[in-house]
Amino acid sequence: MIPLMKNAFLNEFETKKALAEFIIQSNRLSMDVKCAEFEKKFSAEQGAAEGILFNSGGSANLAMLQALKNLGRLKDGDKIGFSALTWSTNVMPIIQMGFIPVAIDCTIETLNVMSSNLAERLKEVKLNAFFVTNVLGFCGDLDNIQKICRDQDIILIEDNCESLGTVIKGKKTGNFGVAASFSFFVAHHMSTIEGGMICTSDEELAEMLRIVRANGWDRNLSAKQQFRWRKKFNIENEFEAKYAFYDLGFNLRPTEITGFLGLYQLQFLQNNILTRQKNYFEIEKIIAQNDDLLGLKRDNIDVLSTFAMPVVCKDAGTRNTYLARFSGAGIEIRPMIAGNIQTQPFYKKYVKTFYKLEGTEFLHHCGFYCGNYPELTPSDLETISSCLFKY
Ligand SMILES: Cc1ncc(COP(=O)(O)O)c(C=O)c1O
Repeated sequence: MIPLMKNAFLNEFETKKALAEFIIQSNRLSMDVKCAEFEKKFSAEQGAAEGILFNSGGSANLAMLQALKNLGRLKDGDKIGFSALTWSTNVMPIIQMGFIPVAIDCTIETLNVMSSNLAERLKEVKLNAFFVTNVLGFCGDLDNIQKICRDQDIILIEDNCESLGTVIKGKKTGNFGVAASFSFFVAHHMSTIEGGMICTSDEELAEMLRIVRANGWDRNLSAKQQFRWRKKFNIENEFEAKYAFYDLGFNLRPTEITGFLGLYQLQFLQNNILTRQKNYFEIEKIIAQNDDLLGLKRDNIDVLSTFAMPVVCKDAGTRNTYLARFSGAGIEIRPMIAGNIQTQPFYKKYVKTFYKLEGTEFLHHCGFYCGNYPELTPSDLETISSCLFKY
C-alpha cells in the first residue's frame, strides 16, 4: 500500500521523542513562548514581517476574512473571487462572513488561476477581493495577478496551504497578497498535527488577527497596542482590561505543542521540499512519454514545492483506466482537492450565482492525485511510474 501520507511528521521517531520530552518538562501547554518563537522564525523564513499561529489552516482562512471585515476593508455583500479548485474552508468563510463568492476558473496546464482567468471574470463582475489558492505546490502567474489587483483596487489574499516553499520569479508564494495562510495538518509540507499560520507585513492586519484569534481581546498585543485600545475605550485599569472584548473574534488559538512541533519540523522543511521536487520530476518524465496524460506547465516556477503527484488524463474515460490501475497497485488516490467547488452540496445550498468553469470542470473529471513525500521509497516510485506507462 502507498498511502497519501505515511507519517505524521518529518523524521517521525525523533520528533515524537522530542515532543514527549517537551510535554513532560513543560509547565505550561497553552499558547505561550514556543508559539511566539515559531511565529517569528516561520515568518522570517517566509519573508514576512509577522506570523500569527492558529489551530488550523481553515481557522487561519476564517480569521483572515473576519480581520479584514473588522478593519472595514471588506463589507457585507462584497464580492470575493476565489480559485474554483480549492479547499472547502477557503470558500466557506466567504459565505459565513456575508460576502458573495465568485468562482474564478483554473487553467488545466497549471492547475491554477492565471491572470487571464481573473481578467476574464473581471469583464463580467467587479471584485472587492481575490482569495487565490496556490494549488498542490503549483501556482499561477502571481506577479501579473498582483498587478491586476493593484490596478483595480482588489484586495489580494493567498491561500498557500498547499504550496509552502514554492518560489516564483525569485519570490516565495505567500508574498504576493496582503496576507497568506498556511496549513500544518498532517500530509502538508510540515506538520504540527493540526495547525496553521498567517504571514503578513501589514501591521494593522496582524494586530487585528491577534484580536480575532483570541476572543476579541487584547492580551496578545504589544504593550503599545494595548495602550491604544484601552485609551480608545476609556479602560483605565487591568481589572477591566483583562475582560474587554474589542471586536468580533473566535477562539482559534494553537497550543504550545503546536509551537514546539512547528519549530522542530522547520529544521527538516527545506530538505523535504527538495525531495518532493525530485520525486515529482521523476514521475513527470514518465507522464511526458504518455499521450493519454497531459503534462503540467511549470516554466514560471523556480522551486516546485509539490504537495502531491497530480495526474491529468486526456478525458474522463481514460481517467477510469488509470484510477483502476492505481487502486489495483495499492496506491491511494483522491480527486483534485475538492473538485469544482461549485458542485459541492454546501455551495449549491448557499450560493445563487454560478459561473462557467471549463478548466476546473475538466480537472474535476479528468484529474486525480497520489501522495508525494520523502518516505516514498525507490520501489514506491517505481510502482507509481509503472501505473503511468501507456500499455
Ligand atoms: C488549499 C487549502 N486551504 C486550506 C486548507 C485547510 O487546512 P487545515 O486542514 O489545516 O484546516 C487545506 C487543507 O488541506 C487546503 O488544501
